[in-house]
Amino acid sequence: MKPIKVGLLGLGTVGAGTFNVLQRNQEEIRRRAGRGIEITMAAVRNIERARQLTGNSIEVVADPFAVVNHPDIDIVVELIGGYELPRELVLKAIANGKHVVTANKALLALHGNEIFAAAQDKGVTVAFEAAVAGGVPIIKALREGLTANRIESVAGIINGTTNFILSEMREKGLDFATVLKQAQELGYAEADPTFDIEGVDAAHKLTIMSAIAFGIPVQFDKAYIEGISKLEAADIRYAEQLGYRIKLLGITRRTRTESGDGIELRVHPTLIPAARLIANVEGAMNAVLVQADAVGASLYYGKGAGSEPTASAVIADLVDVTRLATVDPYCRVPHLAFQPGEMTDVAIVPMSEITTSYYLRVHVKDQLGVMADLTRILADAGISIDAVLQKEPGDQTDLDIIMLTHQTREKNIDAAIAKIEQLPAVISKVTRIRLEALS
Ligand code: HSE
Repeated sequence: MKPIKVGLLGLGTVGAGTFNVLQRNQEEIRRRAGRGIEITMAAVRNIERARQLTGNSIEVVADPFAVVNHPDIDIVVELIGGYELPRELVLKAIANGKHVVTANKALLALHGNEIFAAAQDKGVTVAFEAAVAGGVPIIKALREGLTANRIESVAGIINGTTNFILSEMREKGLDFATVLKQAQELGYAEADPTFDIEGVDAAHKLTIMSAIAFGIPVQFDKAYIEGISKLEAADIRYAEQLGYRIKLLGITRRTRTESGDGIELRVHPTLIPAARLIANVEGAMNAVLVQADAVGASLYYGKGAGSEPTASAVIADLVDVTRLATVDPYCRVPHLAFQPGEMTDVAIVPMSEITTSYYLRVHVKDQLGVMADLTRILADAGISIDAVLQKEPGDQTDLDIIMLTHQTREKNIDAAIAKIEQLPAVISKVTRIRLEALS
């Protein structure tokens, strides 16, 4: 059978990895896919640099539309990043009857519903394993491996840059800016690193996983997003003293509120018991913990960023599409795991309705009755305290009081924090970090 022809949009970190791995493992990949997979064309910004990598083995062009409109290209691999240009290119490729492989989580989190509908209409596939957790095959696990299950929750460390920063800061005491620079040099960070630091990248990935886990459309605009930029070293230390690690976690799960069933969709720094496997995921590694009714808990771990780990996922998609391109389109695995007519409209619940535990750090004047006031406010709000940490103030006139709470609704803790901040002895805003037992 003739090799399938692939056109790349972008030949940066992931594109170069894809080119190199496909070349290196081409014979083995051909045996797996049933026919050869050949990159024949690439659209790049820097033609000279691309030539250094590819020599004259492929056609290199500046115009990405030349790739998506080329009659010989069967699969377009979109590795440009961003939203608008890739949206146009992907929709054009689909309209031209081409299959698409993309690593672009931002594109799918915002425009996935439109893109998948267009692909469905045209009978082509849009594959996106590389968009979530790099080389970890989590899309395949959620969509196919766990298809027998009712999935209850997905919780993941899905941004390598922030996990690398948190690990290096905790283990080596390095400062934020130094570690961010290292992450950029290693090719982990997004072109705009605020997407990493502020949790946007993790929210893109979580939105995609939530849709697949629960059979709902992608709804990035409903995600609650809080990054690590306001996290203080003191809280990382206090958390350790209490037996916890702080991770930037993406959490999506089924929940029940007064108004009915809903889905939580949130990214924020989270205390996790240090004994949990996922709490020990360090550096740029990613991990996703899935709770499902039949299989129970399962954990997926691996490199979430970088050239060849992400290329591994891109090429897995290329093999899948190559295999699928030869079967009846009605036998395909649906883009978002559920058949397009079978999606549900369970609402994403507002953040005030989520239920979790909390770490509170209250900076207070060292005076009589402060602890009693704090505990009274929490008790009046029906919030039970799990642990308290207070160091002897020594010569200081002020000190930190750390409290861990049992589970409560976010609106209850918001109301209690507002009252605590009114106390005369409370010096600054209360630091609140959510805590997940993940048991
Ligand atoms: N910037 C992302 C990360 C790259 O740090 O995880 C992979 O999506």
